[in-house]
Amino acid sequence: MKVFHAKEALQNHLQPLKQSGKTIGFVPTMGALHDGHLALVKNALKDNDVTVVSIFVNPTQFDNPDDLNKYPRTLETDLAMLDKLSPEILVFTPDAINFYDGQIKSQPFNFDGLEYEMEGKHRPGHFDGVGTVVKKLFEIVQPHTAYFGEKDFQQLKIIEKLVEKFNFSILIKPIPIYREADGLAMSSRNKRLSFIHRKAAPFIYQVLKQAQLLSQTNTFKEVKTFVNDVIQAHPLLKLEYFEIAEANTLRPADKKKVGNKYRGFIVVYAGEVRLIDNIEL
Ligand code: PAJ
Repeated sequence: MKVFHAKEALQNHLQPLKQSGKTIGFVPTMGALHDGHLALVKNALKDNDVTVVSIFVNPTQFDNPDDLNKYPRTLETDLAMLDKLSPEILVFTPDAINFYDGQIKSQPFNFDGLEYEMEGKHRPGHFDGVGTVVKKLFEIVQPHTAYFGEKDFQQLKIIEKLVEKFNFSILIKPIPIYREADGLAMSSRNKRLSFIHRKAAPFIYQVLKQAQLLSQTNTFKEVKTFVNDVIQAHPLLKLEYFEIAEANTLRPADKKKVGNKYRGFIVVYAGEVRLIDNIEL
């Protein structure tokens, strides 16, 4: 497997491949890979001649320095997992200084309001960081198709907007949420859960499924009250927010309109670990 640390080296490698007409699939990640990430990579391998996976814990998207410091870094295991999937995968794992040309900071974006909802409110600057890193990655890799998980649904919508705003000719393919057998959405952060919090965490998905069922017969307001109440009553989980929003604009929704799609979005702290999940309603 080929591993690139400098963007110039990756670009030099990709250029002749592109010129010979090979299609490039791209999966951006922050590493600590799990089966959710691998689902994205498998899709890329299936659809394209060449698959590039980036592993880069991007400092500019962390609003909390503690979260950045504690973010799991498991490069050797990540490389072994990718190599097992296919030794043909190209891995890009830059250091921040090379990647950002010495200036580790984000640029401001206008994502037509998507950036002010939910995660945008609770993690100031987060989507500027995501926009900055993904835009740069797209410019370096110039893929035909890029793969993003519905686990971070708001991020997925922001990336679609980024592609639209900057006229990238990149197809964005959404991949459904991968879950542990007990329903907990796979996440690199799950590695940081204590034993008791790991046991408690599947409750989040159970509540989301109940919310999904309830939304068939009840108002969104009632669904929200239900989720707030049951999570607040849980001794080990702390609700940061539960929001119901229209799936394309991500605007909070009080009522269902025929023809629109809605999702429930939740963020819960299990001990010190911030867990995010969502479900179609
Ligand atoms: P990271 O959290 O490593 O996730 C990389 C990709 O994997 C994202 O598109 C995310 O939505 C997807 N993913 C994570 N867990 C998943 C799951 N359980 N099921 C399906 N897909 C899942 O998201 C980021 O990194 C960063 O913000 C990044 C886009 C790489 C920019 O730094």
